[in-house]
Amino acid sequence: SKVTVVDHPLVRHKLTVMRDVSTSTKTFRHLMREIGSLLCYEATRDLALEPVEIETPLTRMQGEKLAGKKLVFSPILRSGMGLLEGMLDLVPSARVAHIGLYRDPKTLVAVEYYFKAPEDIADRQVIVIDPMLATANTAVAAVERLKEAGVKDLRLVVLLAAPEGIAHFHDAHPDCPIWTAAIDERLNDHGYIVPGLGDAGDRLYG
Ligand code: PRP
Repeated sequence: SKVTVVDHPLVRHKLTVMRDVSTSTKTFRHLMREIGSLLCYEATRDLALEPVEIETPLTRMQGEKLAGKKLVFSPILRSGMGLLEGMLDLVPSARVAHIGLYRDPKTLVAVEYYFKAPEDIADRQVIVIDPMLATANTAVAAVERLKEAGVKDLRLVVLLAAPEGIAHFHDAHPDCPIWTAAIDERLNDHGYIVPGLGDAGDRLYG
């Protein structure tokens, strides 16, 4: 999969504050939402537009509006919800497909506990959202689940990725491009991204 690193100065600044262990839950949550918007801005750069005729206070003109079906955002619970907020700030009409997956702490295998998607998800463009791409077991399972539901047009937005996770995800889903704020050094023995920011779900929700 193609990987785009969104390395805008605002993203780099906010990400550094999020990594800092002394950052409070309240600030962490707020920054996650803001970076969600900035990642969304980049990941939707190629959305199709169609011409529309409008009237300004002065004259008629041809403007542009988003064409086609509404987007679906698919946050992976829990921590995907943090980025989702900021993405919905930018695309308020998007639909949402929730996927509940947790990593078994011993095996690091992703276990599904929830899936609820819009009826017509198969015909829509879907953006999967999860802050951490560590082993990628979670993201691989989520995209698999969405493909099973018939989705063909998929992309993945994460905050941090480990090189191992990118490689694993690419092998499983070469057709699904990735946007990330940074690619970190490595995974540790417990499957945490290093230097990372700790456990995103815990830092968001405790
Ligand atoms: C964490 C994280 C990702 C996943 C990434 O979730 O939020 O969803 O692990 O790891 P992977 O790439 O190795 O699969 P966790 O299982 O801690 O659940 P939570 O978000 O509910 O805390």
